[in-house]
Amino acid sequence: MNEAIKPSSVKMAETTKDHGKVPTKKKTPWAKFMTDDEYFPYLIKKNVRPAMWRWKDVEPQLQEVAGDPLRRADRRFIALVNADTGEAGGAVPSAFIGIQILNPGEHILPHRHNSYAVYHILQGSGYSILEGEKFEWERGDTFVCPAWAVHEHINTGEEQAIQYVFQDMPARAMERNLMWEEPIGRSFHMVEGEFSPHKD
Ligand SMILES: [Fe+2]
Repeated sequence: MNEAIKPSSVKMAETTKDHGKVPTKKKTPWAKFMTDDEYFPYLIKKNVRPAMWRWKDVEPQLQEVAGDPLRRADRRFIALVNADTGEAGGAVPSAFIGIQILNPGEHILPHRHNSYAVYHILQGSGYSILEGEKFEWERGDTFVCPAWAVHEHINTGEEQAIQYVFQDMPARAMERNLMWEEPIGRSFHMVEGEFSPHKD
């Protein structure tokens, strides 16, 4: 097995040491029954309308985050969210689009997630280190970062670098299996509760 994706067995060993102490679940009130007449209407979702984000509107917002001090996320992007996707928080229900900006010299530190990422360079130049190899990029280039690949980005140019980023992050989040590691060595499951990628 690839060392990078070798699962940790620590938690399993701890929780199965003494089965007599494992609490027994008697009821799960959220386990429902539905007839077909009930189920199909439940399954039908409100349609998602086409949406468009214009550069003239995105650009000022990008410049605003570019001028801010770096905060919790240690990166600067504007997510293009179609409100019709509801809690999915996507451009469409399964996909995230973000426009990321790096000021000259800025560095997004190594991290990884089990959503894949497609990057297209709209402006500037720099490089990304993907799984220990350097990929230099400039305007017009496209590269992909597969799921769970460690990656970092550096703007080495004189101007701001702008990346168009496409990810399946909402699909992972909707399945409740979005996983993150940031910084390297701190892995977490992004579900409700104490975990989020960045804290103050
Ligand atoms: Fe990332």
